[in-house]
Amino acid sequence: MDKLIISGGLPLNGEIRISGAKNSALPILAATLLADAPVVISNVPHLHDVTTMIELLGSIGADIIIHELMSIEIDPRAVHNFFAPYELVKTMRASILVLGPLLTKYGKAKVSLPGGCNIGARPVDIHLAGMRQLGAEISIDGGYIYAESKGRLHGAEIVMDLVTVTGTENLIMAAVLADGRTVLKNAAREPEVTDLANFLNSLGAKITGAGTDTIVIDGVSSLGGGQYKVMPDRIEAGTYLTAAAMTRGRIKIKDVMPQTMDAILYHLRETGAMIKVGENWIELDMHGQRPHAVNVRTFPYPAFPTDMQAQFLAMNCVADGVGMITETIFENRFMHVQELQRLGANIKLQGNTAISEGVPMLTGAQVMATDLRASAGLVLAGLVSAGETTVDRIYHIDRGYECIEEKFSQLGAKIRREGRKIAG
Ligand code: UD1
Repeated sequence: MDKLIISGGLPLNGEIRISGAKNSALPILAATLLADAPVVISNVPHLHDVTTMIELLGSIGADIIIHELMSIEIDPRAVHNFFAPYELVKTMRASILVLGPLLTKYGKAKVSLPGGCNIGARPVDIHLAGMRQLGAEISIDGGYIYAESKGRLHGAEIVMDLVTVTGTENLIMAAVLADGRTVLKNAAREPEVTDLANFLNSLGAKITGAGTDTIVIDGVSSLGGGQYKVMPDRIEAGTYLTAAAMTRGRIKIKDVMPQTMDAILYHLRETGAMIKVGENWIELDMHGQRPHAVNVRTFPYPAFPTDMQAQFLAMNCVADGVGMITETIFENRFMHVQELQRLGANIKLQGNTAISEGVPMLTGAQVMATDLRASAGLVLAGLVSAGETTVDRIYHIDRGYECIEEKFSQLGAKIRREGRKIAG
């Protein structure tokens, strides 16, 4: 199994390009099933989750061509198999995103229930309740969701019980080809939801209000083909900026959308980082200073993202002072705490809050990645650990970070992979 081996202690310095957003690419790839003509998606990150989505679309019957630089052409016209098997869904929860498109376009779908995952129970009840309101008949049997609609789905006013990102995306996709108007209330405002809506509108959908908590979808009878470029990954961008802050470094990241990163940049400035922002780049400079610890509470967008929590906790472990990180989205997203403690971090867990008192430097050790963002937190911790840190089970990282060791090396870190890379 792959490992990353990091010799810590060097400040990051240099310039890198940020990849396309995983959490945007996955729903957009699923949404290509709605089209009636070929669609070309560019800036798709080369990640294991993307490969899984491509495999799923292929097994459903879509014709797929991968062009240079991960631009992907999908022709959904041959779709004939409305099935997402457990084997794929269990490796990637976002597979649930094919449910909305298959149901609304073909009138039926059989999709495995995702089940629990490392960071919490993560049910899909809100996806299913919304689809029922759009007129679908849904039953669950043997671990599978069976969804059916007699004729077209119909528009409805749906108030979602809590803010769910993929739930909002699944319901937008289901409503796009429904008969009449759908209004989604308490919708997720994440930029990736807006990116999906922009993509669908470029194919002829009529969606307004994406980026707010009320999204209106006027159903159309069909969607055409087209081309679309996936937005930059704000979590990948935030991860590298945090790494630079905790190593007392100076970096510039390019091909980003700074306006999607307000909460992250706000808290990075609180650490003492000097941050300059251009139209599509961000520069962070610590002027060699140790970061101050910060207090952060995760919440749906535009507040601080849960996907940046582990990285900020790693930073607080070497920051000056005491910091508190409160997780409100997932119930079990602190598995990195024990691993950080193996590196000498001083953290106490109180309910859903991690309280840490920073030490000047951690000490290298063997640690194990438990989920995608937790693994990123451990890599960051390795960068500020004396001696060598080995992060094991990094297949989690390959699900969400493109070329992570290459990018960190480019920034001057001493990091290498042992084993065979499985991404893509
Ligand atoms: C998405 C992101 C993930 C991020 C998360 C929160 C993708 C592919 N993944 O995941 O990286 O960590 O948003 O920003 O975009 N919930 C229910 N019932 C539902 C749906 C969700 O109870 O039907 C709960 C979940 O258990 C969780 C909370 O709602 O506690 C938010 O989850 P949600 O926004 O749905 O996360 P995902 O869309 O799965």
